[in-house]
Amino acid sequence: MWASACAPYPRSSSDAARHESNGRERRGDGLTVHVGIVGQGYWGPNLLRNYVDLPDASVEWVCDTNQVALEKVHKRHSSVAVTTDYEVVLGDDRVQAVVLATPISTHFELAKQALEAGKHVFIEKPMATSVAECEELNALADAAGLTLMIGHTFVYSPPVRKIGELLESGEIGEVRFVTSSRVNLGLHQKDVSVVWDLACHDLSILSYWLGEAADSVNGVGRACIQPDIPDVAFLNLTFPSGCVASIDVSWLSPVKLRRTVLVGSRKMLLYDDTESVEKVKIYDHGVDFRDPETFGEFQLSYRTGDILAPKLDSTEPLFAEASHFVECIETGRRPITDGVAGLQVVAALEAADRAVREGGCQTVAVPEACKRRA
Ligand SMILES: NC(=O)c1ccc[n+]([C@@H]2O[C@H](COP(=O)([O-])OP(=O)(O)OC[C@H]3O[C@@H](n4cnc5c(N)ncnc54)[C@H](O)[C@@H]3O)[C@@H](O)[C@H]2O)c1
Repeated sequence: MWASACAPYPRSSSDAARHESNGRERRGDGLTVHVGIVGQGYWGPNLLRNYVDLPDASVEWVCDTNQVALEKVHKRHSSVAVTTDYEVVLGDDRVQAVVLATPISTHFELAKQALEAGKHVFIEKPMATSVAECEELNALADAAGLTLMIGHTFVYSPPVRKIGELLESGEIGEVRFVTSSRVNLGLHQKDVSVVWDLACHDLSILSYWLGEAADSVNGVGRACIQPDIPDVAFLNLTFPSGCVASIDVSWLSPVKLRRTVLVGSRKMLLYDDTESVEKVKIYDHGVDFRDPETFGEFQLSYRTGDILAPKLDSTEPLFAEASHFVECIETGRRPITDGVAGLQVVAALEAADRAVREGGCQTVAVPEACKRRA
């Protein structure tokens, strides 16, 4: 989880030396990480805004193959250089890190080129289109001592972090099950199903909270609007700890729901991300099972205690995410949402996609070394 996943990278001394020169540079009395941001469609401008605001970062390039997108960038941030040519970004020795906000199908190739050029890399969710691609990127980053971070944005949001802390402290107890709904009207994607687009968020949250990868998934779905691109899916997952989870996702719903219920052995939680305040509620509710002392019937006792809404900090998740990427480059810490977390999510997505398209219970193929976070 949050704290334990922040262990320093195991770097060799040569890696550490390279990191000193490649990952940071002293400027005035602070450290500045020079970044290039690639992709300025729907999501990229949000990343750009946050990196521009970050005191420890300097945006040297914005790249997009679409000239119109670059014209918009130039209007808002006239001092940032723009290019349609990714090679220009990679060829600039000042650029230490690349932030990718391009379509999923491009993530692997663009990230691979950046790592091979010696750049730290941030990849928007999901990390890549297959476990094999994730493994290759992780191996490249580890061998070069470079930071590789995945944009599992919700892991940097105050409610998700707060729940992570509550789980870590033991207050909620062992997680028995989680059920989540993430539905709204649109945006229909043209290249990926709703599973890859929306379930990705729930899977990354679960991977962070539980500290383990799912081991199986089954589900159903339907392509209601675009042929062959499911826009509704109902997924059921199992985890090695015994926890079970259900995730509903859809781009076809009259209302926007972002509701997660988590039931622990001590307390229960409701996380509603559409609420403006009180996004998290902790219920001191439960059921105790008493074995009969003599031959007779067992007894259940229901407990309905206090309901508490913890105070949450108000940091914008994307700012926290961008700060964490820069901090990991500066310090050599491993990102909370590193390539292992990215791989766990992609493995679950691959299995969920198969379950929706082919039916049956599908095994989540996570390599042994990536099953549980350190
Ligand atoms: N974290 C979140 O909550 C969140 C939300 C939305 C999207 N995303 C992710 O962000 C990424 C981008 O999604 P989007 O909705 O912005 O897509 P989009 O299609 O709107 O934008 C992608 C942009 O990348 C550009 N592009 C494509 N190939 C390129 C290349 N080789 N070099 C340079 N530019 C290139 C396109 O011209 C386009 O402007 C996806 O991975 C998506 O899953 C994350």
